[in-house]
Amino acid sequence: MSATIIILGATGDLTARYLLPAIGQLVERDLLDHDLRLVGVANDDHDDASFRTHVEHSLTDHAPRVAPDARSAVVARSSYHRGDVTDPATLGAALAEHGASDDPVVLYLALPHVLFRRVIEALRDVDLPATLRVVVEKPFGQDLAGAKELNAALDAVLREDQVFRVDHFLAKQTVLNLIGLRFANRIFEPLWSRDQVESIDIVFDETVDAQARARYFDRSGALRDMVQNHLLQMLTLIAMEPPRSLDPQDLSERKVEVLRAVRTLTRDDVDRHTVRARYTAGSVTKAGETREVDSYVDAPGVDAAREIETYTEVTLHLDTPRWAGVPFRLRTGKALALDRREVVVHFRPLEDSVFPDAGANELRLELDPDQMWLSLNINGMGDPFDLETVEMGLELPRQAPTPYGQLILAILDGDTRLSARAQEAEEAWRIVEPILAAWADGASPLRDYPAGSEGPATSVAPPAAVSRATPAAEQQ
Ligand code: BG6
Repeated sequence: MSATIIILGATGDLTARYLLPAIGQLVERDLLDHDLRLVGVANDDHDDASFRTHVEHSLTDHAPRVAPDARSAVVARSSYHRGDVTDPATLGAALAEHGASDDPVVLYLALPHVLFRRVIEALRDVDLPATLRVVVEKPFGQDLAGAKELNAALDAVLREDQVFRVDHFLAKQTVLNLIGLRFANRIFEPLWSRDQVESIDIVFDETVDAQARARYFDRSGALRDMVQNHLLQMLTLIAMEPPRSLDPQDLSERKVEVLRAVRTLTRDDVDRHTVRARYTAGSVTKAGETREVDSYVDAPGVDAAREIETYTEVTLHLDTPRWAGVPFRLRTGKALALDRREVVVHFRPLEDSVFPDAGANELRLELDPDQMWLSLNINGMGDPFDLETVEMGLELPRQAPTPYGQLILAILDGDTRLSARAQEAEEAWRIVEPILAAWADGASPLRDYPAGSEGPATSVAPPAAVSRATPAAEQQ
């Protein structure tokens, strides 16, 4: 069986940094059940030979660890179509490359989002293979109206099970583990509600700055780039009711229920429960190396007057019996002091304990590297009646394949569970849009934070220092 992956935008950054390395890794590990054909489409002046050289360089630069024979195999399976990706003739020619009629054909829109709709509309005039799967990257629209238009355009040419609105966070181990952890263990689900949980943080702080992607970022901002998709998708898995099964439909219904239950923020809520900020010049230290970072507004392509946020924090409430009154704090930002990517479930403090000072338990699920830590209060380590807080945990081995590799495998399998369904994308905009509107109207004024700092004063406290009962080193 062969599979054809057609990448629209084959000479772009996403293809070089994420898609080709993921494909290289899948080929290297022999994880593809199919013989692959890789068809690149773009407007750049390439023929098959020069495109193959481009693929080879992308793999060498961005996936240097992929073995040379796997790299050569990907290169050898690549071909190129030059043309306008919104032209039915270009799309038709690329799609004509597919193999037998029941072999999967993937059309991957690795393109600037402004082109999505035009490409999808152009598909109306193309003879489409029955096994076609169309992959749409983020952002899925720039607002609710845009997402609806895109969904309508997709609906006019494809079945919903042919559409993959991919979200690579759904392919991250720790994110997927939220379902396993909750629904395959007796010990968590009974605690997973307002009775036992005080608040939940979903944090994705990054040391990386926005300079290299400033042109894109300045039309997006942290709320659109991270919250509308990745962090809200994580919220759905944390907060959903048990699904009837792991079928895509059952899972999606539960996710939509969560999004629909998120209370719409009023202008006053936006003032009180959101933070937006943008970094000024500073220095970021990572792995012992310090890097000077220019102020965001000085990056090429940035218009300071647009007041785009590189940091945001949003507190949401879910109007459901399970979660009433429990704040979900979502936070993300660029050029911060630490890479801190985690979900923290803060359990309620004990009442009437013989240990009135006992700290509240926390479950901390960390992404990249994937780790899980549960804080416990124990005594007897020094003075037998003195308490100490320790963390009991486990570290998962590095994920293979990468999230993008997982996405590609799922798409080839026709499995839509690592994608957002039409309604999920729209509901997520329903949550985000009032925040954008209130910000545009001056609510929660834009703050500054120096690059390399912990961000502006925030309600998501950094983790307290506790000793970890299972240090990573002992896990090896
Ligand atoms: C992308 C965002 O989707 O996810 C980036 O556009 C962000 O701004 C990135 O840095 C984080 O994902 P990861 O897991 O690939 O580091």
